[in-house]
Amino acid sequence: MSWEESTRQKMLHLKLPTDPRWVGIAEMQIEDILTDHAYCEQKAASSCISLIVRFNDLDELVDTLTPIVAEEWGHFERVMDQIRKRDMKFGMARKDEYVTQLNAFVRKGGSRMSQLTEHLLLNALIEARSCERFKLLSQNIQDDELQKFYYELMISEAGHYVTFIEMARKYQDPEIVNKRWQEWLDFEAEVLKKMEIRGDRMH
Ligand SMILES: [Fe+2]
Ligand SMILES: [Fe+2]
Repeated sequence: MSWEESTRQKMLHLKLPTDPRWVGIAEMQIEDILTDHAYCEQKAASSCISLIVRFNDLDELVDTLTPIVAEEWGHFERVMDQIRKRDMKFGMARKDEYVTQLNAFVRKGGSRMSQLTEHLLLNALIEARSCERFKLLSQNIQDDELQKFYYELMISEAGHYVTFIEMARKYQDPEIVNKRWQEWLDFEAEVLKKMEIRGDRMH
């Protein structure tokens, strides 16, 4: 089985596997990767907070996302520990081209529930891609502690991915969700295909 085939099967239905060169260059720039990763965890927490504020009346959504905010903040703390114990610098936030491009795909207007669907699918997609990248890091980098660290985070983000998809299917007709999810997957593959491979970015 080729690398692409074996990866595709294991990567939560993403349509384009990460270029295998990425993990090698990421490992050489691990300080930048950890910094970028720390900001990704912050953004994951804040996007859940935004959903809680915007959809405060949806009890199950609020109760499901509340512990995820704490988990994502816990991830941020754990990334910061890795940076500090290595005497690395926590650098500045960079422009997040990947997320900016995905945000542009969010369908504007429509019902409130279709807006919720869009944002849940956006979050699910970022979780799925992060999960795939964490897996690559956990399997390929030399640092034993970071291998274990990225393995644990991969499991956690896979759980978040499932939760976001489940929430989307709870509040919207699952057939509509499934169809839109395929569109999101296709779009994400196109975005990734056009992006430069950089070792200083998680995405
Ligand atoms: Fe996380
Ligand atoms: Fe997550």
